[in-house]
Amino acid sequence: MDWKIVVVSIILLLNAASTSSQSLAKPGCQEKCGDVNIPYPFGVGNNDSDCFRDSHFHLVCNTSYGHPVLLGSPRGNIPFRNISLEGQTTVHILIAMDCYNQSGRTYDGFQEIDITLAKQFSFSSTRTKFTAIGCDTKAYMSSSLLSGDSFASGCISFCTSDETLINGSCSGIGCCQTSIPNGLHTFNVSLSSFYNHTDSLGFNPCSYAFLADQDWFNFSSSDVRDLRSRLPVRYDGATVTPVVLDWVIPDDNCTYAIKNRTSYACGENTYCSDSSNPTGGYNCHCKQGYRGNPYLPQGCQGDDGDLS
Ligand SMILES: *[C@@H]1O[C@H](CO)[C@@H](O)[C@H](O)[C@H]1NC(C)=O
Ligand SMILES: *[C@@H]1O[C@H](CO)[C@@H](O)[C@H](O)[C@H]1NC(C)=O
Ligand SMILES: *[C@@H]1O[C@H](CO)[C@@H](O)[C@H](O)[C@H]1NC(C)=O
Ligand SMILES: *[C@@H]1O[C@H](CO)[C@@H](O)[C@H](O)[C@H]1NC(C)=O
Ligand SMILES: *[C@@H]1O[C@H](CO)[C@@H](O)[C@H](O)[C@H]1NC(C)=O
Ligand SMILES: *[C@@H]1O[C@H](CO)[C@@H](O)[C@H](O)[C@H]1NC(C)=O
Ligand SMILES: *[C@@H]1O[C@H](CO)[C@@H](O)[C@H](O)[C@H]1NC(C)=O
Ligand SMILES: *[C@@H]1O[C@H](CO)[C@@H](O)[C@H](O)[C@H]1NC(C)=O
Ligand SMILES: *[C@@H]1O[C@H](CO)[C@@H](O)[C@H](O)[C@H]1NC(C)=O
Ligand SMILES: *[C@@H]1O[C@H](CO)[C@@H](O)[C@H](O)[C@H]1NC(C)=O
Repeated sequence: MDWKIVVVSIILLLNAASTSSQSLAKPGCQEKCGDVNIPYPFGVGNNDSDCFRDSHFHLVCNTSYGHPVLLGSPRGNIPFRNISLEGQTTVHILIAMDCYNQSGRTYDGFQEIDITLAKQFSFSSTRTKFTAIGCDTKAYMSSSLLSGDSFASGCISFCTSDETLINGSCSGIGCCQTSIPNGLHTFNVSLSSFYNHTDSLGFNPCSYAFLADQDWFNFSSSDVRDLRSRLPVRYDGATVTPVVLDWVIPDDNCTYAIKNRTSYACGENTYCSDSSNPTGGYNCHCKQGYRGNPYLPQGCQGDDGDLS
């Protein structure tokens, strides 16, 4: 019995070594921007470089902010924090804020935010929640669907004391949350108050609203006093939250895309899956027993490659 266990663990070690040494970028292309990996089909470089699949996946590693920042579409101002080959990426998105003092609104931060993603990205409905924080807070989100129809949703939070707030529980007292539908590319977030925070200024001068990775955000009673101090800041100093986006190879679906071997995104030893988003698109995956980057032309390599 014992020798089997030893053999298995040696194989696992070899695999771990071969995976970590394998580049996920195209040969000769930049693999990282700061601490963020850039796996193909994403890439940085000149417009005519072949480091990225096409302009949809062209990112910029901007070093003029003191540290390298990986920025992407559509306005080139969304920082990418990491990119997974499972078809997700974490980006930083601005939060909305509405702050008051005794004289009224203080115009600190953005009361309204509009976010538009390029078509190969959509907000992950399974990972993202719309969250509002405050005790005199009306938070509203609106968006348009693929059909052209629009919808709006949101939540309201009102409270008269910070003693009723519960750490770890965003359930309506000082913090409220709603889900978002699948496949959205655009979002408007808007915040307002009922009474200019007049009754809550002492413990809650600001309302906040944002989209965020639900696994990342955990409400704390101190957030109604000052949420901003514990959130990340963007390259330009603006307050942001991490948001998970789904990404796809846009336009096509598997059945259609596989017919043109020149434009098909999936390399050797891979399979294709259609996106569940209404906008379509597809993703590539390594076949079982294979590893690597399924989007590179050479695709995925066999797990036993090092032993044969
Ligand atoms: C690179 O391509 C982008 C969009 O495709 C375009 O806006 C930009 O002007 C191009 N830059 C150069 C130097 O051609
Ligand atoms: C980097 O950001 C700076 C400041 O916004 C801008 O002037 C510059 O053009 C950017 N560089 C690239 C390569 O996009
Ligand atoms: C991606 O970034 C987010 C936010 O910084 C982090 O929570 C998550 O663990 C990261 N994922 C990976 C695979 O590094
Ligand atoms: C309220 O904030 C504004 C700036 O946003 C400031 O000019 C004003 O003095 C502040 N009022 C009080 C009472 O703190
Ligand atoms: C979002 O707001 C902008 C103006 O800030 C407006 O032009 C756009 O129509 C709004 N979109 C939605 C879906 O409400
Ligand atoms: C909630 O957490 C904050 C910060 O971690 C702490 O200061 C506060 O005392 C906690 N409140 C309760 C009711 O446990
Ligand atoms: C959220 O915070 C509460 C108290 O601050 C803690 O008990 C709970 O485990 C945290 N949950 C997560 C998912 O981190
Ligand atoms: C809130 O402030 C605005 C001006 O900043 C004022 O017009 C409005 O009447 C105030 N509302 C309440 C309920 O105090
Ligand atoms: C796949 O895409 C083609 C071309 O865009 C379209 O005609 C076809 O209906 C799509 N098939 C499915 C199953 O979505
Ligand atoms: C296949 O894709 C290539 C590259 O996008 C394109 O130039 C070619 O016209 C396509 N062929 C067919 C038959 O659609």
